[in-house]
Amino acid sequence: LATIEVDLAPIQPGQAIKAMWRGKPVFIRNRTQEEIDAARAVPTAELIDPQPDQARVKEGKDNWLVLVGVCTHLGCIPLGTSSGESKGDFGGWFCPCHGSHYDTSGRIRKGPAPLNLHVPEYAFLTDTRVKIG
Ligand code: FES
Repeated sequence: LATIEVDLAPIQPGQAIKAMWRGKPVFIRNRTQEEIDAARAVPTAELIDPQPDQARVKEGKDNWLVLVGVCTHLGCIPLGTSSGESKGDFGGWFCPCHGSHYDTSGRIRKGPAPLNLHVPEYAFLTDTRVKIG
């Protein structure tokens, strides 16, 4: 499908889900305030792929993080969405293929991946519904 709609209501703070969009996984995470603060505490200039957290989320919806769930190294699907999976050293996602660690903004922090997890085009239809694509 070119676009998908996802109901956010069941996703509790601290939880994430995986949806499928254009044959790829999309991660949607309802971030806790702690996770948002952690993402914003790091100076942007120190990042491998410098991007402020604010540029990766919609204003006023700072808790919602929407990412293409494909490692920017060689395309594995990072862990960290389902409960019990490793979130890596920075509390976001961990790619077990070659050890890339992503933070709570989906930005690459350690390992061979060159770029942050990609933020797809998306829009809020209501407070609890997003359209991706
Ligand atoms: Fe993810 Fe290599 S594909 S670290």
